Amino acid sequence: MHTEKLDAGCPKDIARAGEILRNGGLVGIPTETVYGLAANALDGKAVSKIFAAKGRPADNPLIVHISEFSQIYPLVETVPPVAERLAERFWPGPFTMILPKSAIIPDEVSAGLPTVAIRFPSHPAAQAVIDAAGVPLAAPSANTSGKPSPTLAEHVIADMAGKIDAVLDGGPCNVGVESTVITLASNPPRLLRPGGITPEELQSVLGEIKIDPAVLNPLEEGEKASSPGMKYKHYSPKANVILVDGDFDQYCDYVNTHKEEGVMALCYDGEEASLEVSALSYGGEKDYQQQARELFDALRELDERNAKVVYARCPKPEGVGLAVYNRLIRAAGFEVIQLG
Ligand code: TXA
Ligand code: MG
Repeated sequence: MHTEKLDAGCPKDIARAGEILRNGGLVGIPTETVYGLAANALDGKAVSKIFAAKGRPADNPLIVHISEFSQIYPLVETVPPVAERLAERFWPGPFTMILPKSAIIPDEVSAGLPTVAIRFPSHPAAQAVIDAAGVPLAAPSANTSGKPSPTLAEHVIADMAGKIDAVLDGGPCNVGVESTVITLASNPPRLLRPGGITPEELQSVLGEIKIDPAVLNPLEEGEKASSPGMKYKHYSPKANVILVDGDFDQYCDYVNTHKEEGVMALCYDGEEASLEVSALSYGGEKDYQQQARELFDALRELDERNAKVVYARCPKPEGVGLAVYNRLIRAAGFEVIQLG
């Protein structure tokens, strides 16, 4: 299949993306978090093509994207007042709510669950494509399953060229990690995946928010995942990534005494010069937003540079850093060296 390259700044290309989606095709689209692989959410056949293109396990449900709050009503059973308050505060934006689904949501979208995840993205091109398609769009991240999520159109092309109808290039994604996911199908609401909206921000609206244990810890053998996406190895480059938890001096000592062939460092900005192996940085030590923006591109670049073992600075799990920690610890398969 030929994959068309479209430009998010060009109204004709937005219309073309909408046409492809209305006709049951797949388009890689920019959002403020990561690129999504979109299909008409109301067309089970179109949605099943997403699973084939990504190699995604069939039991992992998708997020449905809307371009106006009122579009949520036909998709869910009811909209509780708490959902309205959350939407008022965090939509449009990097925030996803799970609610009991209505009958028009195909089983392919919800992967057989009685619930559906809904997000109203803030990226103007994402909104314009949803409008042009005239239907809500189901869209997981536009990477091959298991790989780091795409934050540039080039990442989508690297994974999906020849497998999808088009990619709409909207430049780099501003947030860089996927949306915060909470479920309102349980009481109290539970954070399933940290993202651009922090637990503190959620608390300011909800009062109380439970953090699902799978956010920070691996699932126990045989344990059922609240969010099926959390049970799979994720975000992982080919290299063996290992988190190193300690201060900068301890990290340097560790890396500089482990400089075997193929070892690379994933450090904070400005630390490269002290390291005796090739190093890539993923933002400033205190700048969690920049870390989020740069992490996935850095993980892809480690592969391009043929890293075999990557010693990564362990991010601080606070604020948006919680999302960075959650992604990187999965990339590392929960392998952490404690030096502190
Ligand atoms: O920022 C984002 O959320 C991006 C952009 C494209 O919008 N999308 C994204 O989708 O990250 P995906 O499919 O890569 O991640 C969706 C996560 C998965 O972990 C999935 O298991 C979970 O949300 N999820 C979706 N529907 C669910 C449901 N009904 N119940 C529990 N978890 C659900
Ligand atoms: Mg994903």
